[in-house]
Amino acid sequence: MTAADGTATARRSARTTKLAVVGAGAVGTTLAYAALARGTARTVALMDTNRSKVDAEVLDLQHGQMFVPQAEIVGSDDVAVCEGADVVVVTAGAKQRPGQSRLDLAESTVGLTRELMPGLVAVAPDAVYVMVTNPVDVVTYAAQKFSGLPRERVFGSGTVLDTSRLREAIARQAGVAVGNVHAYIAGEHGDSEIALWSSASIGGVPLLDWTGLAGRPPLDEEVRTRIAADVVQSAYRIIEGKGATNYAIGLAGTRIIEAVLKDEHRVLPVSSHLDGYYGIDDVCLSVPALVGRGGATETIDIPLSGGELRDLRASAERVRAIQRRFGL
Ligand code: LAC
Repeated sequence: MTAADGTATARRSARTTKLAVVGAGAVGTTLAYAALARGTARTVALMDTNRSKVDAEVLDLQHGQMFVPQAEIVGSDDVAVCEGADVVVVTAGAKQRPGQSRLDLAESTVGLTRELMPGLVAVAPDAVYVMVTNPVDVVTYAAQKFSGLPRERVFGSGTVLDTSRLREAIARQAGVAVGNVHAYIAGEHGDSEIALWSSASIGGVPLLDWTGLAGRPPLDEEVRTRIAADVVQSAYRIIEGKGATNYAIGLAGTRIIEAVLKDEHRVLPVSSHLDGYYGIDDVCLSVPALVGRGGATETIDIPLSGGELRDLRASAERVRAIQRRFGL
């Protein structure tokens, strides 16, 4: 048996990795493209019910092979193409229309998750599942339920993207590199998400003590409030202008996948099942968690101000209300 026959055992013995992306829309194809450009996985499989679309996307990606790390790119409308995947990313689902909230998508995407998960688990029982489809917190909770897998192996992209938006805005305002900013968005990936200012830092300096570089204004409460509001509104603005977001979520997804495949034990604000987190139970929500080959294996008890804890609990209740509406 050789790696060439592509079976899971053969690939593992040849120490190759397989990423399966379900959904060949703007997000799924951008994520596949970003993963190929970064050499994230040796095999990238794209699945979509629209066969002509997925075939065309695979062809277009294959034609770029000369310029990126070697990878096998396959695609199909048959779930079998996900066979033996190490990571399965689910991006399939209804698109958020201008002015529509992510939670408005729940009715269609929870049903789709119920349909998809059993078939995926049958062909990729050992995979880590990363849900991207919105509303990602509710979809993640549903995927955990419908997959029957250990909860840590099914988590959502959560507020990793929102955290990137926050850090970029802080870095631009402060005049430093994004890599020097540590700050999280927590809670729902949506309108009730929270910027955790009390634990944020710039270059090792607590953000709330940051007095600003020469000639740069400090990040006072007015600036922080504006930045947090801009982060919440980001997707709406982009969808209004171009119909969907894809680049940043594609990169965020690839970052998460790499943390899994390289077993990085990276702390990321992914959407995972909370039980007893600051008194929050039985809901999927984003808080800093440890991400590695086993999935999202442990949440980190990040210090919270009184206001942040109040808002996190309110965000949990908002998501849980949607879970209940769909009988999850
Ligand atoms: C966004 C989508 C991925 O925030 O929900 O861009």
